[in-house]
Amino acid sequence: MISFSPKTALPTLLRLAPLGAVCLWAQPAAAQNLIENSTFDGTEIGPWWTHADTSKAAAQTVEVVEGRMCSTVLEGEQGENPWDVILGYSGVELLPNQYYRVSLTASATVDREIRVKTGLGEAPYTDYILQKLKVTAAPQTFTFTYLNLRGNPEAQVQFHIGDYPGQLCLDDIVLEPVAAPVVPAHVTPSTTGMPLKAHAAWVKMGTAVDTPIFLTNPLHNSIVAGEFSAITPANSMKMNNIQPSKDVFDFTDTDALYAWANQNGLEFRGHPLIWHTQAPGWVTDDTTLTRDPMLEIMFKHIDGVTAHYPNLPYWDVVNEAIDYDKDAATWTFRPTIWHDRIGPDFIDLAFLRARQDAPNAKLLYNDYNIEQMGNPKADRVFELVKDMRSRGIPVDGIGLQSHYYIRPDGNPVEGVPSIQAIRDNMARYADIGVEVHITECDFRIGKPSDAAKEELQRAFYADLLQACVDAPNCSHFTVWGLSDLDSWVPSTFPEYDFAHIFDANLAAKPAYQAMAQVFAPLSLEGPPPVSGTGGGPGDGGTPPAGTSGGGCTFQPAPFGARVPWQAALVGALGLSFWLRRRSSRAHSEA
Ligand code: XIL
Repeated sequence: MISFSPKTALPTLLRLAPLGAVCLWAQPAAAQNLIENSTFDGTEIGPWWTHADTSKAAAQTVEVVEGRMCSTVLEGEQGENPWDVILGYSGVELLPNQYYRVSLTASATVDREIRVKTGLGEAPYTDYILQKLKVTAAPQTFTFTYLNLRGNPEAQVQFHIGDYPGQLCLDDIVLEPVAAPVVPAHVTPSTTGMPLKAHAAWVKMGTAVDTPIFLTNPLHNSIVAGEFSAITPANSMKMNNIQPSKDVFDFTDTDALYAWANQNGLEFRGHPLIWHTQAPGWVTDDTTLTRDPMLEIMFKHIDGVTAHYPNLPYWDVVNEAIDYDKDAATWTFRPTIWHDRIGPDFIDLAFLRARQDAPNAKLLYNDYNIEQMGNPKADRVFELVKDMRSRGIPVDGIGLQSHYYIRPDGNPVEGVPSIQAIRDNMARYADIGVEVHITECDFRIGKPSDAAKEELQRAFYADLLQACVDAPNCSHFTVWGLSDLDSWVPSTFPEYDFAHIFDANLAAKPAYQAMAQVFAPLSLEGPPPVSGTGGGPGDGGTPPAGTSGGGCTFQPAPFGARVPWQAALVGALGLSFWLRRRSSRAHSEA
């Protein structure tokens, strides 16, 4: 073994590769290794233990082979339930807010992805995969550091190795506390020289951030802080995570993200308060819950989460509540735990409660396939929002998730949007005084990728951003994850990947550069205030004529300077700007 000091090696590594990447180097001796049997020099694997899901008849033997812990799995299928076969170690004391280094050497007779997790001791405990490692026949040493958030006196270390046949051998397993890694300084990859956030006065760029990559990858965090103005927690605020047991909130993960966002001057978006997906078992499985107890649960959840984060500027109050009813052949309320147990007024009641709890926040209804005017779901949701506002229900904005795609066969028939239809949709929301936020944008590519598909992706991101820049009521554009390294797409849509604006090496893609080009001609100061309307960026503004109540303030986006020759006209004609803007836009697109 080549040995060198980890203190000198770590910063060098950070300059070379993101933490969490595969690093091929020899291990230094581990002075503080919390794992006792780590080199398997004897004949026993203990205290390591194994777990295989016997219901699936996965069979596994584990033994020491040539100084390594080797597990042989006899049954199962690749890609299925990697958590069904586990190599684990219990009783590790983990300290809160402490960085740890995980390192191991691994090889496998059949290529396999293994997953690393720590935690699962005393509740509340960490319960997510920290890293996925691609193990091959050639022994590789993998090293990453992570920030452990929760004190856990009896934590486990788990390797989920998958229930498909083959032998996997692990050696030199290290878990040791280390100093915080150096965060690499951000140098924008933009060919314009300006990061995406430079033009926040026009549109604030945001990204979803998931907990595991946030805890393990300083380069990822550096790019997010360097390029974006806002983040949305990808999972940590979902009800299963933030209220895992009845009336027991676990804010640990979201607090860490929130504190980091504040330190870096990033807006933090609340997502989501009420959603049927990723709801905890104590709600979903209890079929005895009728309207009143469900209302109590809903109100307590909204109260609890908003009270803990009283200053968030935006909340996705209700997520994905509209769906197609095949029997009735119509778009209507999705049958969910909330709708079915409370009734369709759960949406109104959630917004009213959120307004009461978070009077200064903008409240959004968030959904997918609602971006394009003329799409039946989009039209149905527009009617929903319009109706809510006409009845005084405080919905301030619409979250257009904007998950788009190009099919594996390259046929753009369904997944590639009409940008004009999106512009029209944004305009009709402006007409009723509703803000539009792009909340979860991505463009997944049906495998295999090719140049034509990548070009569609590049054009999509740029054109959608341009539509947001041009729309007076579109102030935010959030991408759903920074990069292909940490994407929700492959596990959700197995035929798709490569959805994001940075690649799996965290390098900027053409889509990123195209977005930077959209911003490039715009002033950094943002558009000048539009006289007579009270509407500069971020300073409130006058609702357009005909806006229904609902206690919402409308922030006209700074459209005047977006098309400079219009600015004077707008100033002179005040509130009638809405109509003129739309006709001028039609002009510029003709
Ligand atoms: C996704 C997360 O990104 C994944 O990590 C998770 O496994 C599932 O949820 N619509 C939403 C988001 O509102 O919260 C979803 O996020 C993507 C679809």
